[in-house]
Amino acid sequence: MSGDWLAARVIGHRGAAAHAPENTIAGLARAAALGVAMVEVDAKLSRDGIPVLFHDDRLDRTTNGKGPVAQADHETLSRLDAGSWFGPAFAGEPIPTLAAAIAEMTRLKLALNLEIKPCPGRERETAEIALAVAQAHWPADRPPPLVSSFAVECLEVAQVAAPDWPRGLLLERATPGWDRLAQRLDAASVNIAAGMASAVAIAGYRRGGRRCLAYTVNDAMEAESLLAMGMDAVISDCPDLILARLAGRRPA
Ligand code: G3P
Ligand code: MG
Repeated sequence: MSGDWLAARVIGHRGAAAHAPENTIAGLARAAALGVAMVEVDAKLSRDGIPVLFHDDRLDRTTNGKGPVAQADHETLSRLDAGSWFGPAFAGEPIPTLAAAIAEMTRLKLALNLEIKPCPGRERETAEIALAVAQAHWPADRPPPLVSSFAVECLEVAQVAAPDWPRGLLLERATPGWDRLAQRLDAASVNIAAGMASAVAIAGYRRGGRRCLAYTVNDAMEAESLLAMGMDAVISDCPDLILARLAGRRPA
């Protein structure tokens, strides 16, 4: 492995969620077409333990299925349409396995922020299996993925299972004791909700060489100001707007 794991200052959220259905192969392709170098995706398990890209605990919002993901076998998941809800142009877009998504990222030369998003109660097995699959498929000659999670148990598993891969501690609010936790997890980054950011807070999160990333930043002026305050990268549904602003161009 070589190079900096943080490949970009602008990271596509769930692929490029404003432009294509989240956590799909079409979303990865769209992100790459927009000039994005790094994407964030969410990984969880089917009932029978296959890691797939999926955000919610339930199928209802983003597929034509219903019910908890944790109760659906991969065979069932593989037949669902995860694109029509977003737009007719994406009809039939499947829920990808993590393995298929990594193959596509490799082809597209996308760097990865792999958010482990366990269904409640499945923290340990989700991290163990998702990381085993990621390690089996991620090309050894590319910078390793950032492994991020809100679930401390997932990061603890990552610390043992993939010690050389950077870990990102996700926070949704200012959390007392976050620094001890980040230290214990040897976190390479703290990934905060954008509303938690100020110049002072960012400097605190970055102390000791840690990176600070912010989600989900969809306003180009806000992104520019966060980056000017010292934020290392922003995670965005519309990375193209932010890339254009940073380059001083009009959005395409
Ligand atoms: O990893 C950043 C962001 O994706 C965390 O929140 O709910 O969009 O997965 P969420
Ligand atoms: Mg996420």
